[in-house]
Amino acid sequence: MKILLTEAEVRDGVRRMAEDIGRFYGDKPLTIVGVLTGSVVLLADIIRLLDMPLRVSVVQAKSYRGATTVRGELLINADLLPDLTGCDVLLVDDIFDTGHTLFELLGKMQGLGPKSIRSAVLLRKRGRQEMTREPDYCAFEIPDEFVVGYGLDYNDHYRNLPYIAALEPHEIAAGKSS
Ligand code: IMP
Ligand code: MG
Repeated sequence: MKILLTEAEVRDGVRRMAEDIGRFYGDKPLTIVGVLTGSVVLLADIIRLLDMPLRVSVVQAKSYRGATTVRGELLINADLLPDLTGCDVLLVDDIFDTGHTLFELLGKMQGLGPKSIRSAVLLRKRGRQEMTREPDYCAFEIPDEFVVGYGLDYNDHYRNLPYIAALEPHEIAAGKSS
């Protein structure tokens, strides 16, 4: 594993992003919605850096199945969302890769009648995007490598690493056969 972003770099990036978000919304009440499961670490950190009146919620989106790193069908479970009617909503996810997950989630949540909806991600993978809509906030651009840590998993492992690391191709191959 190769460390792409150290714990201190991640912390600084999250702080900068929280400052941008705070500047945009000011004291207006905000509903933050984290995408399960990858956003849980970012969600926990970023909500403590924001000081407007805040509601915190989650939505589940699953696309990467089992050991594969190829995108499958996206399953969205929005049962845990509160009433979003008339609210300013910020959707938070770990990584913006092809953009399909965020695009579909934003579309679904738009249908729930929020006043506004924006999105924030920790990472954006360079050169992978297939959708026209980009996240409103992004802490880091990274090369096109499979990364883990700070919430991001490979086969549900490594989410607890406090830094972001890229898996070597042989580590990905090893995971597939196990
Ligand atoms: P997208 O729909 O292609 O933008 O994929 C976004 C989702 O795929 C994220 O929410 C992640 O859960 C997952 N994902 C994409 N790239 C990576 C990666 O490098 N490591 C771990 N998960 C990833
Ligand atoms: Mg995810």
